[in-house]
Amino acid sequence: RLRSVVCGDGAYLPERILTNNDIAGLVETSDEWIVQRTGIRARHIAADGETTSMLAVRAAQAALADAGLAADDIDLIICATSTPDFTFPATATQVQAELGITHGVAFDLQAVCSGFVFALATADKFLTSGSHRRALVIGAETFSRLLDWSDRTTCVLFGDGAGAVVLEAREASGTTHDRGILTTHLRSDGRHRQKLFVDGGPGSTRTVGHLRMEGREVFRHAVGMITDVIEDAFRATGFTAQDIDWFVPHQANKRIIDASAQKLGIAPEKVVITVDRHGNTSAASIPLALAVARADGRIKRGDLVLLEAMGGGFTWGSALVRW
Ligand code: ACO
Repeated sequence: RLRSVVCGDGAYLPERILTNNDIAGLVETSDEWIVQRTGIRARHIAADGETTSMLAVRAAQAALADAGLAADDIDLIICATSTPDFTFPATATQVQAELGITHGVAFDLQAVCSGFVFALATADKFLTSGSHRRALVIGAETFSRLLDWSDRTTCVLFGDGAGAVVLEAREASGTTHDRGILTTHLRSDGRHRQKLFVDGGPGSTRTVGHLRMEGREVFRHAVGMITDVIEDAFRATGFTAQDIDWFVPHQANKRIIDASAQKLGIAPEKVVITVDRHGNTSAASIPLALAVARADGRIKRGDLVLLEAMGGGFTWGSALVRW
C-alpha cells in the first residue's frame, strides 16, 4: 500500500508590498475598513515582467531544497493556477523546462482558490496508483493582473505569490498513524459560476478580463461548504476537531476562517493565518501558509494538518495530512 508523503515545502513572494494605505491612494477605501471586513493589512504584488511561472519556479526550487532532492527526481508536476503566463502551454511545462526536467509529465489544474487542494488530491491519486514516484505540487498566482484597480470591492482582497510541496510515494501500513495524505474530498457546483468569475477569455471578450465577484453571496456559501467537506474528512478517518494539530485554510478572509473554525470546534490557536500579510493569493495561499508555519516551527513531522479551500465555480475541498 502506497501513501503520498510530504517531504519538502517552499514558497516565494514578490518583493513589492502594497499596504492598505497604499490602496487608499487608488480607490475610496481605508485601512480600517479593509482590516475590519477581511483581516488583510498588506499583500505582495509581482513586478512588471515577473510572471506566475517565475514565482512557481522559485517556490519549486525552495521545496526541492527542503526535501533534499534534485529536480531530476521529480516525474510529476501539477501547477494550480488561474493566472497562467499564456493561455497555453501550461505554466507547469514552463516550470518543468526551467528546472531542466525532460522526463515525466507536467500539467496545470484550474480550480481557482481551491486549486492547491485539487492539485494535491490529483497528485495523491497518481502517486498511490504507483504510476509516478515524486510530485511537485505548486500553487502560483499573479491575481494583481486580473484585478480592476478601480473597483474597491475586489482590488483590496488579492495578492500575488507561490508555494509548493514535494510528495513522494512511500510504502505504508495503511493506518492513520502513517505519514502522508490520509484523505481528500473535492466538490464543485457550477450553478454558482457567475458569483465569482473573470469576464474575459478567448471565448468571450478575447481579452484577459477582470475578476468580478458578488462578495456577499460568496461569503454566504463559504462557511457551509467548507465545514461540509471537512466533516467528510472526519467521517472518512474517524478524527475529530480535537485531534487536529494545525488548521491551514485557504486565506481569503479572516472572518470566513474564524467562522469555519468556530463552527467545527477547532481552537483558534491551531489556526494558521497569513491573510493579514499575503491577502488572498488564490491557489497559492495554502502552500504559502504551510511554508510560514513550517519555517516558524509550528508544523512538525507527525502533526495532523487539515487543509481546506473554497473558490470560483464554486469549487471546494479538504485534505487531511499526517505531516
Ligand atoms: N472600502 C470601503 N468601502 C467598501 C469597500 C472598500 N474596499 N468595498 C465595499 N465597500 C462598501 C460597499 O460599497 C458598501 O457600501 P454601501 O453600503 O454604501 O453600498 C459597503 O461597503 C458594504 O458592502 P458589502 O459588499 O455588503 O460588504 P461586506 O461586509 O459583505 O464585505 C467583502 C465585503 C469583504 C468582499 C465580503 O463580502 C467578503 O469577504 N466576501 C467573501 C469574498 C471573498 O473572500 N472572496 C474571495 C474569493 S473566494 C474565496 O477565496 C473563498
